[in-house]
Amino acid sequence: MSLGGEKLLLAPMEGLADHVLRDVLTRVGGYDGAVAGFVRVSGTLLPLRTFRRISPELANAGKTPAGTPVAVQLLGSDPVCLAENAAQLAELSPAGIDLNFGCPAPTVNRHGGGAKLLDDPESLFRIAGAVRRAVPPSIPFSAKMRLGVSDTAKALDCARALEASGIVALVVHARTRDDGYRPPAHWEWVARIRDVVRLPVTANGEVWTAEDYLRCRSVSGSDDVMIGRGAVADPFLARRIGVLMAGELPAGERAGDWIELLPLLADFWTQVSHKVGPRHAPGRLKLWLASLRRTFVEAAALHAAVRTLRGVEETTRVLALHGVPVSSGAFLRAAA
Ligand SMILES: Cc1cc2nc3c(=O)[nH]c(=O)nc-3n(C[C@H](O)[C@H](O)[C@H](O)COP(=O)(O)O)c2cc1C
Repeated sequence: MSLGGEKLLLAPMEGLADHVLRDVLTRVGGYDGAVAGFVRVSGTLLPLRTFRRISPELANAGKTPAGTPVAVQLLGSDPVCLAENAAQLAELSPAGIDLNFGCPAPTVNRHGGGAKLLDDPESLFRIAGAVRRAVPPSIPFSAKMRLGVSDTAKALDCARALEASGIVALVVHARTRDDGYRPPAHWEWVARIRDVVRLPVTANGEVWTAEDYLRCRSVSGSDDVMIGRGAVADPFLARRIGVLMAGELPAGERAGDWIELLPLLADFWTQVSHKVGPRHAPGRLKLWLASLRRTFVEAAALHAAVRTLRGVEETTRVLALHGVPVSSGAFLRAAA
């Protein structure tokens, strides 16, 4: 895909897109970068292995096997503790360090972290400023924010505060915390934020199709777009966007896409069983298939077929029956 200077980024999705899915999705291609799901920082200096667990790409120069750079995201509210952990993380030379000011989870917000901080732009400035001083300039330092907690009244001040703290890029998930994940995403607010800051702003939220991508760019005025759930639901979305941008073929699902996805599903299944073990692997597969149903009718049938299965062997068998080229021998050796 050629997007010129524009960047297409794969969003952090804790619990949904771990390094296995990042590997698969970036191998299909089209993403210029990705962010790993947040590392929660609360009161202690985390050991290096915690960062390596969330982003195994750190052992590969901060890149997925396909070579896509992966930033590591921190979530917390204590400037000193975040700064110390950021310095620790910087030792591992991630492709970037990002701060999360968007998490809506009640447990995180109760402790003053995530989106709750958007009520207090001054605290964003203090936190991001402390982390800025701890991160060497060679590592891109960014932040990801929502539009506010309950309304957008402080959105511009938050963006200004983050810019003043010295971040080099900002991702705006164009919803408030209270909006949760409900459509629409208010891309016009990304444009308003772009009007008051000079740093690059990436638009995020509700891009599910190549057409959404074009509308998001046009409404937000932003050349850079980050995609979350849409990337999981359609592994070929970045490619469809590239095709639409090049004006080569009509956008939309092609019949061959599901066939092309089958070996990727097989690879995902093998890798995920290695990673999480036989007890949790079927759940991870079901999670991805549930997302894929949005794009592929075949995924709905496969999801229905594995939905009640708990064992790795029976799941492998059903996958094979549906044309997923799993090698049960290799898989069982891997899972042993
Ligand atoms: C399951 C899930 C986990 C998420 N985890 C994170 C996270 O760790 N850090 C973060 O900044 N955003 C997280 N998000 C928000 C996404 O990065 C993104 O901002 C949001 O889903 C909107 O984009 P989308 O409409 O393209 O999905 C998560 C979203 C989902 C659905």
